[in-house]
Amino acid sequence: MTEHDIEQLISRMTLAEKLGQMTQVQPQGRDQEERVRNGGAGSLINVVGDDAYHYQWLAVEHSRLGIPLLLGRDVIHGFQTVFPIPLGQAAAFDPERVRLAAAHSAREAGAAGVNWTFSPMLDVARDPRWGRIAESFGEDPLLISRLGVAMVQGYQQEGVAACAKHFVGYGAAEGGRDYSATDLAPRALLDTYLPPFRAAQQAGVMTVMSAFNDLDGVPATGHEDLIRGTLKEQWGFDGLVVSDWCSVTEMIAHGFCEDAAAAARAAVNAGVDMEMASTSYQDHLASLIEHGLLDKALVDDAVRRILRIKARLGLFQHPYGAPERAQPQRPAAAQLARSLARDSCVLLKNEQGLPLGEHARRVAVIGPLADAPGEQLGCWVFDGERQHSQTVFAALRERLGAQRVVHARGLEHCRSHDLDGLDAAVALARSSEVVVLCLGEDAGLSGEAHCRAHLDLPGAQQTLLEAVAATGVPVVLVIMAGRPLVLGTVLPHAQAVLYAWHPGSLGGPAIVDLLCGESPSGRLPVSFPRSVGQIPIFYNHKNTGRPPQADAPSIPSGTPLDPSGFFAAYLDEDHRPQFPFGFGLSYTRFEYRDLQLSSKQLAPGGTLCASVLLSNVGHRSATEVVQLYVRDLVGSVTRPVRELKDFQRISLQPGESRRVSFELHTDALRFHDRHLRQVCESGQFDLWIGPDSATGPSAVFELMA
Ligand code: GLC
Repeated sequence: MTEHDIEQLISRMTLAEKLGQMTQVQPQGRDQEERVRNGGAGSLINVVGDDAYHYQWLAVEHSRLGIPLLLGRDVIHGFQTVFPIPLGQAAAFDPERVRLAAAHSAREAGAAGVNWTFSPMLDVARDPRWGRIAESFGEDPLLISRLGVAMVQGYQQEGVAACAKHFVGYGAAEGGRDYSATDLAPRALLDTYLPPFRAAQQAGVMTVMSAFNDLDGVPATGHEDLIRGTLKEQWGFDGLVVSDWCSVTEMIAHGFCEDAAAAARAAVNAGVDMEMASTSYQDHLASLIEHGLLDKALVDDAVRRILRIKARLGLFQHPYGAPERAQPQRPAAAQLARSLARDSCVLLKNEQGLPLGEHARRVAVIGPLADAPGEQLGCWVFDGERQHSQTVFAALRERLGAQRVVHARGLEHCRSHDLDGLDAAVALARSSEVVVLCLGEDAGLSGEAHCRAHLDLPGAQQTLLEAVAATGVPVVLVIMAGRPLVLGTVLPHAQAVLYAWHPGSLGGPAIVDLLCGESPSGRLPVSFPRSVGQIPIFYNHKNTGRPPQADAPSIPSGTPLDPSGFFAAYLDEDHRPQFPFGFGLSYTRFEYRDLQLSSKQLAPGGTLCASVLLSNVGHRSATEVVQLYVRDLVGSVTRPVRELKDFQRISLQPGESRRVSFELHTDALRFHDRHLRQVCESGQFDLWIGPDSATGPSAVFELMA
């Protein structure tokens, strides 16, 4: 179907049919069948399986123009096969497997009639109090961009439209409280929050979702400068923009629009082509046009974009899915889910205890998450098959044999304060040689509208941890959570700590692979705070005029008249994170030596080659995520102390060395200057190649004028 065909179709549509295309509803009851027959919906949300085919049949066979439906679903990190939550997938620093996981998810969802997923979420998340950090790829714009593009490609290669969301700035919610106002300076938007969406647009993402938040006084869903201005006109995005759930009519509650008619007008003017869940477009746009309060051409543009995406998906030819569409491959999906879950786990501590020695004749698997198949799937799981979710306890018992593995919950669930099960758990620990303790957050403690002001282990889990540790039996702590937790009181009680996020359907076997010898290779996609008081805390921060000194917190000796010791630090907390962005241990030790640059000077438009000799100096094969960072030492505006510019997963055998090389083009050094122009300024740069955002050998190069 060509653009000409689309124009022909538009010319045949009534205004009511056009407004119908701009409406997405969740069908409830027979009236929705009439709505579809009458062309009163361009899309349905949350219908799958037979219902999906039924409604598509009504639209195609029984409406006047037979325009097929977009059938949307939140396929966020899997469909029947559930992959790690996006924050966990990000920890693998592996775009290719993220793309493959999205492709498998799209095949499974497509086989159930879904042709549109509201994923990837590209929000920059620097606040672990925010429940939706679980759905994000973390705090770094480059990592988010790479993984977001991979997910878009994975979904769309299988014939399911992707959706870059939430446009824009949603993750910067005040206080980490979902839906709260965001106050982002223009340069923060241009250099931090918009780049992942720009990358997705350049990768051909078919749809974008407007966000709930108020952006410096303008709700994102009514933000004409950003949607129609930046996204559509400046970037050339030719797909469709859908609102978030009722975010059009919520502009009334924002105090931005006085009623639904005004909200509909504001959203269409801003460039929101389709309204999700509320029906203010259908209820009010005709009247607004009739009274000359809305340009009818904007409605035609919205309908054009909607029909264009339906055409790009091939829905006019194959409304029930293309016959050549690949069928789901569940075994391959499960194998990938295990592999991605394994490499998303981050080893935070390992003084002893891991890997479990073959000598461990009796292993106690304890905790509310040791055998919780639903909880380990994480948030945003509607179609995940709990019956196929394999837990740590089940997987370890299978691996070591039932006679060597014993289990006690200790607590019924993560939020429980009921200690009735404590004694039995402690007794089991005391009778074992090692304890695998599975603690963290239930799936329902993260995700949309699930924000936390305290980031400790919920419920009585700290009590359970300390009671088990008091037995003196080594503790291997496995933490499953949808966010970074505050671990200061946790770390001393465990010999080893493995952070597994919410690892999905194959989380159990993946974690057991690591417990039994495969080396962890996950790296943190987000900084871990020592305390909530440090939030927001992220690695690519500014240096300030009084950067904190490396030593521990103290009371400054000076006075405002003699400000010695006055730094951007705390009296009562170390200013550094508990664990920095990019951090993660393995079962071996890697050495970085002989950092080399192809030149000490880089010409404008040129490329610098930076390399390091990486050696596995331990006794086990392992994979390192080698990270390249730069710092622009002086700019026309202040620049971050470090910025990730590239990364590679490198696997080495014991004793093996390899030179790891990166190419750094000057385009990667661009930012927006005081006049918000995108520039690349000459001057000195620090460059690091290392294991995380806080270490690694460094070099200096000069970008020439
Ligand atoms: C929700 C979320 C959005 C989701 C949509 C449909 O409120 O904000 O991410 O895709 O509604 O479920």
